[in-house]
Amino acid sequence: MAHSQQATRAFRNGKASVAHNMLEINGHPSTIRFGNFMIIRRLDPRTIAQSMPYLGTLLLDAVADGHSLGFVNGLDQDQLDAYWQGVAEEVGLGQRVLLAAERDGVLVGSIQLALSTKPNGHNRAEVQQLLVHCTVRRSGIGMALMQALEIEALALRRGLLFLDTAVGSGAERLVQQSGYERVGELPEYACAPNGRWHGTAIYYKTLFTRNRR
Ligand SMILES: CC(C)(COP(=O)(O)OP(=O)(O)OC[C@H]1O[C@@H](n2cnc3c(N)ncnc32)[C@H](O)[C@@H]1OP(=O)(O)O)[C@@H](O)C(=O)NCCC(=O)NCCS
Repeated sequence: MAHSQQATRAFRNGKASVAHNMLEINGHPSTIRFGNFMIIRRLDPRTIAQSMPYLGTLLLDAVADGHSLGFVNGLDQDQLDAYWQGVAEEVGLGQRVLLAAERDGVLVGSIQLALSTKPNGHNRAEVQQLLVHCTVRRSGIGMALMQALEIEALALRRGLLFLDTAVGSGAERLVQQSGYERVGELPEYACAPNGRWHGTAIYYKTLFTRNRR
């Protein structure tokens, strides 16, 4: 059985779990608790490798559900592994942050922050790939991941967060509720797994400003 199928079963059985990671970045703890029911952890390359089947399942779940996340239908295990290995490499290089949400010991969501490495771009970072497993959506996990990522961004001194998301999607609604400002739309930006081209909406949020007024 493919890793991702085993992970899907684990989601349903409530047995999957994210390996613990108590690393600190700039003195910032890697674990954030949301009440008694959820923990959000920062993953490092080792814990990403351990969590690969569950992360793969999260991505597969979203693409199978019709969401455009840089992939088209027919995503296979090699593509999933290559994608998460690439993420792990960038995390290892300090160019990316990956947070995982764990509820009742089960990995149920993730979010990434791509840090600009341009010499003049150290104030900005892009929010990417917010994923919540379809079995646990609309219970506040996506919003909690967005909040946790802001804490990471502040700790890493990134004052400008930006993202793009499919026009009219549930994710766009969530982004608006998270306090992001809409810049505009790019038409027919990406192809959804069903073959339809859709626009993307660009958003930003200022966490703090650099210039003195
Ligand atoms: C988008 C996604 C991450 C939302 O995760 P979630 O845990 O269900 O979100 P939350 O429960 O925190 O939702 C917070 C608010 O966002 C809005 N929202 C979230 N999903 C929505 C949907 N499908 N339709 C309309 N509004 C939605 C609602 O206002 C919601 O508050 P409410 O439930 O009290 O009405 C999840 O649906 C997902 O993984 N989708 C597939 C991947 C994807 O599109 N990711 C975005 C890439 S930019």
